[in-house]
Amino acid sequence: MSVKIGNIDLGEFPLLLAPMEDVSDPPFRYVCKQNGVDMMYTEFISSEGLIRDAAKSRQKLDVFEYERPIGIQIFGSDVEHMRQATEISAAAKPDLIDINYGCPVKNVACRGAGASLLQDIDKMVQMTAAVVKATNLPVTVKTRLGWDDNTKNVYEVAERLQDVGIQALTIHGRTRAQMYKGKADWALIREIKRNPRINIPIFGNGDVDSPQKAADWRLEYEVDGIMVGRASIGYPWIFREIKHFFKTGEQLDPPTLKERVETCKIHLQKSVEWKGPKTGIFEMRRHYANYFKGIPNFKEYRTKLVSLEHMNAIEEVLQEIEYQFSGVLV
Ligand SMILES: Cc1cc2nc3c(=O)[nH]c(=O)nc-3n(C[C@H](O)[C@H](O)[C@H](O)COP(=O)(O)O)c2cc1C
Repeated sequence: MSVKIGNIDLGEFPLLLAPMEDVSDPPFRYVCKQNGVDMMYTEFISSEGLIRDAAKSRQKLDVFEYERPIGIQIFGSDVEHMRQATEISAAAKPDLIDINYGCPVKNVACRGAGASLLQDIDKMVQMTAAVVKATNLPVTVKTRLGWDDNTKNVYEVAERLQDVGIQALTIHGRTRAQMYKGKADWALIREIKRNPRINIPIFGNGDVDSPQKAADWRLEYEVDGIMVGRASIGYPWIFREIKHFFKTGEQLDPPTLKERVETCKIHLQKSVEWKGPKTGIFEMRRHYANYFKGIPNFKEYRTKLVSLEHMNAIEEVLQEIEYQFSGVLV
């Protein structure tokens, strides 16, 4: 059965790209889309930044036709500012608005935004209601199991947020206190799926890093779809591999080196197109090691890639990598 969010038809068991600061920008989203992801989100955007008209926040609102369906994710601690941020974000014409109630990092969660709202559900409900009211677009939420081991309140959160009109919920199977440590626990996510009161799609998130795990957890935890974050960094092929596995029960061959090089080049080109040469080239530096993970003695090439300042020179090194390592299995 197809999963729907408002009028958006995501097909059967959609795969979602997780919102990731400094990662899930339009260039990265481009290569994920090429590999079959069903829905994507922007990096989280500060409501305060949007209201102040900060250039960095505004730039994150850029969404492109080829990316649809795409959600803009916002966060903040002030209900009225979140309402305004929703209006500003909706004007950028995404397909939906997502609220972040999951971010654990100090300068977000300790300023009353992100996961800290898990400590004040009344305020979270009030904020969500204000966002839903401020737009005709569907509103979704991404959150965690709770603040810490003693307050895993996502079951109640799911009911109350559905009651004020959210149209899908993604749950990262960790508490705020866990940050990114330990293992994600999806058992509570299954309880929410089994709650007869819940009728919105519930997406599972946390630690999915292989087609086999995606298939196992799909069955075990009964979720409506899966969101993948870290496993896609430098490896956007994870989406097509999971899809292939669902369809055939077989592992797709990993990308060839040629394909890695090509995708890395596209990522670089899109980066330069969208950010301009200086920032585009600079911010691409964090990705090279990920694209070529597993290649022995890659360090020398990485050092070159992260020091060059011109696109042509970088492309030449990428070509050299393809030539040098073409026989190496990665
Ligand atoms: C580098 C990085 C940046 C992230 N930024 C965001 C963000 O902007 N918004 C958000 O909701 N979650 C953010 N997250 C959390 C991810 O969306 C996801 O919930 C988490 O990584 C667990 O999923 P995974 O195990 O598939 O990576 C970020 C995670 C990482 C690693």
